[in-house]
This record gives sequence, C-alpha cells and structure tokens, in this order.
Amino acid sequence: MEMRFLFRALTLVFMVALGEAVGDRMRWTRKELVEIAGYGEIKLSSVILTASLLSSSSDPISGATVGIMCHTGHRRRSKVIKAFTNEFGQFNIDLPSHLHAIPDLDKACSIKPLSVPKPYHRCSHKIHRGIKLVSSSNGLRFYTAGNITLY
Ligand SMILES: *[C@@H]1O[C@H](CO)[C@@H](O)[C@H](O)[C@H]1NC(C)=O
Repeated sequence: MEMRFLFRALTLVFMVALGEAVGDRMRWTRKELVEIAGYGEIKLSSVILTASLLSSSSDPISGATVGIMCHTGHRRRSKVIKAFTNEFGQFNIDLPSHLHAIPDLDKACSIKPLSVPKPYHRCSHKIHRGIKLVSSSNGLRFYTAGNITLY
C-alpha cells in the first residue's frame, strides 16, 4: 500500500515536471495532471458498496430505499446514507470519503431496508451485515453484501 502511494506520488511529480517542460503547446493544467496520475485532490479513493434486494421468492425488489450506517469509532455512527434499488433490485453506493479510512469497513457497516414497495410492506426490515470486500486496486474498493432477501 505504501509503495503504491509512493509510486503515485512520484508519478505525479514526474508528470508535473513533464507538463512544465513541454511548454505552451501541450500545457496541461495542474488539475489535469493530478487526474492523469490518478491522484485526485478531491478524492484519493473510491469505495463502492453494492447489494441486491430480493423477495423470498427471489424476485428483485426495485424502488426500495435502503440505509447504510457505519460505526466510525467508539460508540459513534455515521449518518444514514440512503440508496435506492434499481429494476434489478440492486443498489450501488459511492461511500463518502470520510468513511473510507474506517478499519474493517466490512464489519463496521450495516444495511437496513428503510422503505419497500407495497407488496413487501409486511416483510421484516432486519439489519443486514455480511459485507465482503470483492476487489481492491488503485484506491478503488468494491464491497458487496450479496443478496439481501426479505422474508
Ligand atoms: C442472488 O440472486 C440471484 C437471483 O436469484 C442469483 O442468480 C444469484 O446467484 C444470487 N447471488 C448470490 C451471491 O447468492
């Protein structure tokens, strides 16, 4: 991880230097160079959490609202982040960056269906854990909670 960080930082320095050397015709702004180096000043990393909401008969539940909550420290919790399920019952959340550094994000966060379409009103709205890391590369992490079935 640290090596990668160092590598990126060096790449950035190199590209800034290159940009200055190239001169007027091919001048990139500092912002562009930072983006090319994958070293966004606004976002250093992305964390995407995805899952699908299914009925007990495995039908996708679209148009539902789910809430994601994360423990951010001793007895502290993040605000509830809301997401909506699409036609496949799936939701994707780009977690806000202040949550990216939470250790064991998979264990710290949980998902709860907040509102579901009418046919599923009587299903239990249990809190769901079981978030797993799917992949991690170049500051981009994907987590999934798989299928969340409402009974
Ligand atoms: C989730 O549900 C879909 C539809 O029933 C199924 O095709 C898929 O294999 C399930 N995925 C997992 C990880 O259980």
